Amino acid sequence: MSIHELLMSEVVPALDKSGGKVTVVGVGQVGMACAFSLITQAVCSELALVDVVADKLRGEMLDLQHGLTYLKNIKIKASTDYEVTAGSKVCIVTAGARQKEGESRLCLVQRNTDIFKSIIPQLIKYSPDTILLIVSNPVDILTYVAQKLSGLPKHRVFGSGTNLDSARFKFHLSQKLNLAPNSTHGWIIGEHGDSSVAVWSGVNVAGVRLRDLNPELGTPNDPDHFDILHKEVINSAYEIIKLKGYTSWAIGLSVSSLVGSIMKNQRQCYAISVNMQGHHGVEEEVYLSLPCIIGENGVTHVIKQTLTAEEVAQLQKSAKTISDVQAGLRF
Ligand code: NAI
Ligand code: 2OP
Repeated sequence: MSIHELLMSEVVPALDKSGGKVTVVGVGQVGMACAFSLITQAVCSELALVDVVADKLRGEMLDLQHGLTYLKNIKIKASTDYEVTAGSKVCIVTAGARQKEGESRLCLVQRNTDIFKSIIPQLIKYSPDTILLIVSNPVDILTYVAQKLSGLPKHRVFGSGTNLDSARFKFHLSQKLNLAPNSTHGWIIGEHGDSSVAVWSGVNVAGVRLRDLNPELGTPNDPDHFDILHKEVINSAYEIIKLKGYTSWAIGLSVSSLVGSIMKNQRQCYAISVNMQGHHGVEEEVYLSLPCIIGENGVTHVIKQTLTAEEVAQLQKSAKTISDVQAGLRF
């Protein structure tokens, strides 16, 4: 008899699968920040990691596994073979090139589109019922590319979009007002990037709209200079990349929160990148961020924000910028 048999008698065989599996493709700075947030917050019960660099992949897997004593018993596997991802409820794609100092996200578009051609069909092959969550940049265009390459219905493909920008916005607002970021309500929509739109008309604390107190809020004439906060949001990635080379922790937490809403059907509302056609007068088939409700079956509803004419115009301009870049894409 083996030690196992001497130690315990079987009642029924243990299950190998849990139904709570998440895949992260790309174990760079962003992928590992996502993985770390997912396991420390016990968002998933199984985690599969994929990358093309086998040694780094195995090293990251071992390092996470050795911390499991302090966490829930999450099954962590890693492989360069996509078979390891089979049966994933959510597949998060963080693989690809990142910006160098001073580069915009849009500079990465063709390089990362080419990388997606080798990733997305493999994910769908092993998890045909999955939800794809795109993080690689430029996230809005790559979400469009992922939807086309996957053939999945639109509610099952979305991008992390301006969820991160909204978190940055709430942080800056909270510092100016000296209260907690999650007690400050403000939304950044549109492009995750340089043409993002701050919805100043909706910024509020406890339902008190700041624009009712200061009609110039967020405009260049604002005596309180809140307009600087949106500039800081846009500049965030450039500043952090200049300082440490990449951004990671905030996007990891942001992604983990999104995945939690799917895994536990929480139906939380986030600014995420979805098909924008038909919303706010946008005619192009582009993916941009709007506040959406996400649950176990993906994106179920888009919130119809009451935007000002100026905010709608900015959103439409953002859509045009993205559509122009998309038109030149080869995939
Ligand atoms: P990184 O260079 O640290 O990691 C990228 C990883 O992708 C590497 O491990 C690399 O081996 C892997 N990879 C490359 N080609 C692959 C392929 N064909 N299959 C599987 N893996 C592959 O980069 P980092 O900092 O992790 O950034 C990743 C992406 O996330 C970038 O595009 C970056 O711009 C984006 N990003 C997006 C954010 C957002 O808010 N949407 C926030 C921060 C970064
Ligand atoms: C960020 O905003 C670079 O898109 C990345 O942190």
